[in-house]
Amino acid sequence: MRKIAWRSPSNIALVKYWGKKDIQIPQNPSLSFTLDSSFTTMEISFAEREGLQVDFCFEGKENEKFKQKIVSFIKSLELIDSHKYSFLKNIYLNITSQNSFPHSAGIASSASSMSALALCLCSIAQEFNGGDLTKDEAFFRQASFLARLASGSACRSVYGGATVWGKTAILADSSDEYAIPFSYDLHEVFQEFRDTILIVSSSEKSVSSRAGHALMNYHPFANIRYQQANTHLAMLIEALKTGDMEIFIKIVENEALTLHGLMMNSDPSFILMHPNTLRIIEKIREFRQVTGLSVCFTLDAGPNVHLLYPVKEEFRIKQWIEYELSAFCENRYYIHDQMGRGAIEMV
Ligand code: PMV
Repeated sequence: MRKIAWRSPSNIALVKYWGKKDIQIPQNPSLSFTLDSSFTTMEISFAEREGLQVDFCFEGKENEKFKQKIVSFIKSLELIDSHKYSFLKNIYLNITSQNSFPHSAGIASSASSMSALALCLCSIAQEFNGGDLTKDEAFFRQASFLARLASGSACRSVYGGATVWGKTAILADSSDEYAIPFSYDLHEVFQEFRDTILIVSSSEKSVSSRAGHALMNYHPFANIRYQQANTHLAMLIEALKTGDMEIFIKIVENEALTLHGLMMNSDPSFILMHPNTLRIIEKIREFRQVTGLSVCFTLDAGPNVHLLYPVKEEFRIKQWIEYELSAFCENRYYIHDQMGRGAIEMV
């Protein structure tokens, strides 16, 4: 049996993808920071075999639910491009996967796990097609394309730093089908940007992302939201280039609250924030006003808060997290993470 392995990180969206057309074509472009220490490591041993056969172990235990998800994803690739993925018709895949973050931390793992899977499948494809094993731009683009099909936002995880997914007139290379790395130099204030994930609740989300996106199909504010996301993207790109923290904070917090606002006034309606999510938000705004430090928040489709801040403010902010914010976290639990360099092939 031959073996390949990838380590792929999670990412946090600053301009959110919320609403899609068929097969994960986003209704608006999104921009995210790729994380560093929240990642999935996936190893696949493979051999030619008659038919498709998959074994899947997550953190040392067989996991039937994930296995079925992977099998149906692989089968769906045939509809996309039966020639390119024909090697997947007759193959045995022995997949083992683990996350660097605890399963019960309430952190979505689909971005890291599905991007790791996509990268592994692209590596296997290279081996089957023979010859060139270089991991060039085309390789990562294909991996991002496949990751998108598995779980939309996963397509942004294959690259490090800031990543954009979705067609926008501002970036010539952008596409709805795959993500691209941010084409400009990030201002130095955003280099190694910090993200501390404050775990307000570790319980499972009460709305799946599939159901969540579907809420946008008949949402009365859908079109205006998609326009707003485009405007926000343009403003955020400028802020990332120039280091304009005021605009950065304004857009990033507005995006998080818009996402939750859209869920709250969807039909059916969902409230995914917890009382402590709001307490933390209040504390952040108060602290920012008093200290003048550039700290802000964003939220995923859940109650946990991502606290974002420049590396130069790390010392004071970490102290404040421990003394004040940790009291609002479940079991005082939080995870220090930061902007990372993207997926890595493990040899
Ligand atoms: O990729 P999905 O289908 O899990 O959707 C992700 C949605 C958000 O995390 C809320 C926003 C985003 O852009 O990541």
